[in-house]
Amino acid sequence: MVLEIKDLFVSVEDTMILQGVNLTVKGGETHAIMGPNGTGKSTLASICMGHPKYKIESGDILVDGESILDKSVDERSRMGIFLAMQNPTEVPGVTNFDFIKAALQTRMEEGKHLRVGKFILEFETASKDLAMGKGLAHRFLNQGFSGGEKKRNEILQMKLLKPKFAFLDEIDSGLDVDALRIVGENVTELKSPELGLVLITHYQRLLDYIVPDFVHVMINGKIVKTGGLDLIEKIDSQGYEWVRTELGITDFDKRPEPVSLGTCPTKSLK
Ligand SMILES: Nc1ncnc2c1ncn2[C@@H]1O[C@H](COP(=O)(O)OP(=O)(O)OP(=O)(O)O)[C@@H](O)[C@H]1O
Ligand SMILES: [Mg+2]
Repeated sequence: MVLEIKDLFVSVEDTMILQGVNLTVKGGETHAIMGPNGTGKSTLASICMGHPKYKIESGDILVDGESILDKSVDERSRMGIFLAMQNPTEVPGVTNFDFIKAALQTRMEEGKHLRVGKFILEFETASKDLAMGKGLAHRFLNQGFSGGEKKRNEILQMKLLKPKFAFLDEIDSGLDVDALRIVGENVTELKSPELGLVLITHYQRLLDYIVPDFVHVMINGKIVKTGGLDLIEKIDSQGYEWVRTELGITDFDKRPEPVSLGTCPTKSLK
């Protein structure tokens, strides 16, 4: 089980955001991606899920050796890719319960049906594990949910959908200290050789609960440094300035000149 991101260049509205990202995530591994605001972390997670806003200029994303670039979002989801969004979308008219039920149903072979009784029990157990209010199941998806409730709801979906590769984009933002512990413990319980995990975060506190095997630093649309837990501590206490100095990145906020879009073989997402 392996997800490979190979020399990925991604643009949005003619601005190059990702500038050659390489990352390999195997089953059982947990990777943390850290980096200053606006460096492309969410872009990387979104493009792996197949967000249509972004355009792949060159490079590839492979699952078990097969390119997924021509696969739609729902195909990727059925393949086991999952994204807990930094800003979960509100979907009026669709209840939280129906949303997850439909997502599970579409994963099943044609002609097979979800066992609703079993699903209800699983849903209730997962909600309880995440200390979520009972009413959230029958409210419209994310509508009016507090910031922390939205984040817990993303993990609820993950628990029920049981992905093979999960990107958790700032799942810690907006969580109170108790919720952070609960979310951390729930995600850690999901760790298994059948799950490759990518955590995007700004803070060490999440990584105290969900301990990563690898820590990557992304600056200017590129993973510029990879290390272990010591890297998190250094970033937490010293920020990113030292990475810039060490690697000779001169202008912290300035993205490198965009690569001319004409020079790369263009592959756009369907
Ligand atoms: N439509 C767009 N046009 C131009 N630039 C865009 C567009 N959408 C996103 N961007 C830019 O892409 C860059 C990368 O954004 P992204 O959300 O991936 O950053 P991030 O690393 O996740 O940041 P944060 O830590 O703040 O969440 C940002 O500078 C953002 O402004
Ligand atoms: Mg982001």
